[in-house]
Amino acid sequence: MPHLFESFTHRGCTFRNRIVFPPIAQDLCSPEGEVTRKLLDHYVARARGGAGLVMLEHSYVERRGRYSTRQTGLHHDGLVYGLRRVVEAVHDAGVPIGIQLAHAGARACAADNHEPAVGPSAVTQPGGEPAPRALGAAEITEVCARFAAAARRALAAHFDVVEIHGAHGFLLSEFLSPLTNQRTDRHGGDLDGRSRLLREVVAAVRAVVGETPLWFRLGADDRLPGGLTLEEGARVGQALAAAGVDVLDVSGGLCGSRPPGLPGPGYFAYAARAVKAAAGVPVVAVGGITDPRDADRLVRDGACDLVAVGRAILADAEWPAKALDLLGGTARRDGGPGSR
Ligand SMILES: Cc1cc2nc3c(=O)[nH]c(=O)nc-3n(C[C@H](O)[C@H](O)[C@H](O)COP(=O)(O)O)c2cc1C
Repeated sequence: MPHLFESFTHRGCTFRNRIVFPPIAQDLCSPEGEVTRKLLDHYVARARGGAGLVMLEHSYVERRGRYSTRQTGLHHDGLVYGLRRVVEAVHDAGVPIGIQLAHAGARACAADNHEPAVGPSAVTQPGGEPAPRALGAAEITEVCARFAAAARRALAAHFDVVEIHGAHGFLLSEFLSPLTNQRTDRHGGDLDGRSRLLREVVAAVRAVVGETPLWFRLGADDRLPGGLTLEEGARVGQALAAAGVDVLDVSGGLCGSRPPGLPGPGYFAYAARAVKAAAGVPVVAVGGITDPRDADRLVRDGACDLVAVGRAILADAEWPAKALDLLGGTARRDGGPGSR
């Protein structure tokens, strides 16, 4: 069985270990979404700390999908230059970097964006956000084009991995959930209809990124009465893999990434395990992991192929290096780093 400090390769892209620094919004950009020195330094520090992959936080593919004022933008070509500087600096630290493409849907900061938030249906959100304006059929096609254009910019900035955000009550997860999608056209109704936009976005982005690894952050379990169930989430994972996703980054929670009442370390690992079994592609597990031994156990148990460690690496950029010190003996015994 692989372990935390075994390398991971897909589509010719190699991570030195299985630790992923997941997207964690910093709100350090300019109000126009441009990269700042602080943002660059933040990611360089995480790369130097030894993660296998650094994923740059959610970046909006169009202005009305902006979640917060100082979020990272990926909605026009003028933003590529600053992002490329981040990529180059992280590469100088010897670490690959991905970027998460996002549309906040009903959770967008409508007042700052000076236009109403949009979503699948004009219903009040389970998280309390006001009802968005329902997207028309032609606008849904436009959403796919926005994701594809953002992916093209990500490649122009030389990112190694492109991830699509489909969790936490952002636009794509709003389409997937029966609580927020009450459409009666081909983008609503049964699971096939509600997941159609996700598959369309994946196909559109895959067509742009070619052989670059494509990840999808899947909200596989709404954890709300009447919401998307894990059994459905696993079937969607299978469909997304068939549509061209290389790695499913499995999260959940329609009202955010940290729903209350979940058991500790690796609280979405149960979902990662189910999605992996159904989809047959590598998965990332996430949720409240602070002890490297828990991260290592999840990989060794086969629950996941990669482990996302968010707030712990946010608090201590050196977490991966310290984890290697702690687990080094075990890793060496099994032929990991340090073995000859
Ligand atoms: C401040 C903050 C910002 C976050 N930003 C994002 C984001 O941009 N995209 C995303 O998919 N998840 C985001 N998340 C969720 C994390 O990626 C992760 O799934 C969650 O924090 C649980 O992992 P952890 O317990 O290791 O931190 C954010 C979480 C926090 C605390």
